[in-house]
Amino acid sequence: MNNIATPPEVRHDEIRQMAEDVHLPAPLSESRRNDLFTEASQQLKSNNAVLVAHYYTDAHLQRLAEESGGFVSDSLDMARFGHEHPASTLVVAGVRFMGETAKILNPEKQILMPELAAECSLDLSCPSDEFAQFCDAHPDRTVVVYANTSAAVKARADWVVTSSIAAEVVAHLHQQGKKIIWAPDKYLGDYVQTITGADLLMWQGSCVVHEKFKAHALSNLMSKHPEAAVLVHPESPADIIELADEVGSTTALIKAAERLDNPSFIVATDNGIFYKMQQVAPNKTFYEAPNAGISATCESCAHCPWMAMNTLESLIHCLKANDRSAYEVHVDPAISEQAMVSLRRMMDFSAATRNHIAR
Ligand code: 13P
Ligand code: SF4
Repeated sequence: MNNIATPPEVRHDEIRQMAEDVHLPAPLSESRRNDLFTEASQQLKSNNAVLVAHYYTDAHLQRLAEESGGFVSDSLDMARFGHEHPASTLVVAGVRFMGETAKILNPEKQILMPELAAECSLDLSCPSDEFAQFCDAHPDRTVVVYANTSAAVKARADWVVTSSIAAEVVAHLHQQGKKIIWAPDKYLGDYVQTITGADLLMWQGSCVVHEKFKAHALSNLMSKHPEAAVLVHPESPADIIELADEVGSTTALIKAAERLDNPSFIVATDNGIFYKMQQVAPNKTFYEAPNAGISATCESCAHCPWMAMNTLESLIHCLKANDRSAYEVHVDPAISEQAMVSLRRMMDFSAATRNHIAR
């Protein structure tokens, strides 16, 4: 097997095309949506299942999770909630790595997803075999991977991190004199490197949603709304992060929308987050940060097409299926056991530092 000393080229064009090719659900009438909401709610109850949804999913799925005793959150807290909840069936509305994470942490639970084909461009950018060769070529480095990766990549890592804890974990490793392999998000990696000064050897993946935000157009929008604070997810390019008043995980951005006194906000992340932002700050105004789709057709502009695959209808199909094999998440037990080690490190670190981290 050939070792690779530099990260291999990411198939960006192919991955972007996959995002553009996702068939997005058609909008629903209000009465149809209400009927589906009621049916989904009954199905969750009769199946004794708990819905865990990400902030980027459809607003009605988020509301359903909240009203049915489930949970809506960022990827770290989704994992934590699923792990702590006693339900034996969890339905994860999000993308595949979130379902896999839930399965790794809860091997005894049935983990269902409304759409097993919901990918993530970061996960796609980092095939486990190429990644393992890259790590093998750098045995002196500690391997830190973002949660947006496959179970097999997590199994090869020493640490898993989410955006809410990445900088703290890397700063901790840097203080111990460790050099790091970072994968797969180059933009989050750049951001973490800038604020920690750590030595990161970086994979070159990117998020198809966040990479599209445009700094020049954002500056123009900022001059139109000088009263607005700019909230940016760190998967965005450095020139967008430079313009931010607040950079952080989805949870951190929602908290900023609630905490800051500004009457309005320009938000550089997936617009699914507006449901929660409007809920916590009902009198404030939210604007989408401008992106490449302003005058073009663009499936992944400010909204993740794979997150959008999760709908009330797909949730109902999943819960009503006699054969759940098309919806159930499985992870090879040997891979799961290994991935659990790096995931547990993150969870334990997070528990130990919880009170010190402004998330
Ligand atoms: P969070 O961990 O901040 O929720 O981000 C997950 C994600 O996929 C962002 O694109
Ligand atoms: Fe992945 Fe980007 Fe979608 Fe998040 S928004 S799940 S990083 S493709």
